[in-house]
Amino acid sequence: MGVVSNLNCSLCSRQYAPGQLLNLCECGAPLLVQYDLQALGISNPRELVSSAVPSMWRYEKVLPADASGAVTLDEGWTPLLRLKRLAYELGADDLWLKDEGRNPTDSFKARGLATAVTMAKKLGVTKLAIPSAGNAAGALAAYAAVAGMEAHIFMPRDVPQANFVECNAYGARVTLVDGLISDCGRIVAERKAREGWFDISTLKEPYRIEGKKTMGYEVAEQFGWQLPDAILYPCGGGVGLIGMWKAFAELEALGITGSKRPKMIAVQAAGCQPLTRAFKAGAASSEFWSGAYTVASGLRVPKPLGDFLVLNAIRESEGTVISITDEDMIDAGIALARREGIFAAPEGGACIAAAAQLLKSAFLKPNDRIVVYNTGSGLKYLEAYSTGYPRHSASEQDKLGGLITPR
Ligand SMILES: Cc1ncc(COP(=O)(O)O)c(C=O)c1O
Ligand SMILES: [Zn+2]
Repeated sequence: MGVVSNLNCSLCSRQYAPGQLLNLCECGAPLLVQYDLQALGISNPRELVSSAVPSMWRYEKVLPADASGAVTLDEGWTPLLRLKRLAYELGADDLWLKDEGRNPTDSFKARGLATAVTMAKKLGVTKLAIPSAGNAAGALAAYAAVAGMEAHIFMPRDVPQANFVECNAYGARVTLVDGLISDCGRIVAERKAREGWFDISTLKEPYRIEGKKTMGYEVAEQFGWQLPDAILYPCGGGVGLIGMWKAFAELEALGITGSKRPKMIAVQAAGCQPLTRAFKAGAASSEFWSGAYTVASGLRVPKPLGDFLVLNAIRESEGTVISITDEDMIDAGIALARREGIFAAPEGGACIAAAAQLLKSAFLKPNDRIVVYNTGSGLKYLEAYSTGYPRHSASEQDKLGGLITPR
């Protein structure tokens, strides 16, 4: 595993020693894991990768735990697929999709929760609590089951049915809340001390970013240690984008890649776009987005805690932020399914729609190497996609009966 030298505040200069259970810095900002990368003595990528490990734990040398000591379901090392027919239609010659829907629990949330649960377990935690838009809850529930830990989950009442059912199936304690993820977060914050829960919320502990950063290591390795020209990533809390940005800095510090970075492009939903608004206003952080709505439940985050980190990465990389309507993201998801055989989450559909718009406006060039992150499987969003394919049956019971027994 990596040699963790410190946990550094992402906002003020405070440093914390590793080996202790921590949430946020005293100043309220997220903590980032800092490794002594020189201590690894790596001179080429082959020495970085444990290539026999077919999961994100192949980068154990820059992770806070060893593959052998991890709470894992073999997450990560997902396919990077070249898009052909759809790319041709969009006028892109070098368009790729990183298919995070192929992870355990069918979303990229598996990566971050694997590292977060691994570290919480190592540090003696037995009860975990999470506010979630849905997929993080499903992943936490699964990894808590593997680890034999309690998972206390708070999700908006209108979360996709798949997330509600999977969390219950994994044995988590599920509470549905009349409100958004921000309301769920408030409940966890109010009750955690009394209940003895460790708060494993997005960015409120340091290790989720470490799992998510492996999306950046993987894309580099899959392209032969070259970074692409642009990355489109669906941003809710922004952890994946923050993690990849960290990965690219670490790869440069290791001497594996150079200083050139992909344009980091954050994709938001038109019904919840605090980052787009902040980016356009030239602001360093975002304001709470009132009345948030979108079928891309992972993008329904009205005030991301790490907004300033996302906005920094976008600006430093000369990227941008773009918002997509629900209708356009579902249409793009269906176009992707029809042309490429990939059934993406609406969040992934949003990135395809964003790529189309940015190619049209010439922000992206036809020969740019572009990577779109599909962060989850479309199968977790059947309600959203079903609107286009209505079925006329009397009841849920009827559907089930029709499938199992002749009626
Ligand atoms: C499918 C999907 N995509 C994207 C996101 C946003 O993730 P992040 O917090 O990394 O911005 C989520 C978060 O719930 C999600 O479930
Ligand atoms: Zn601080």
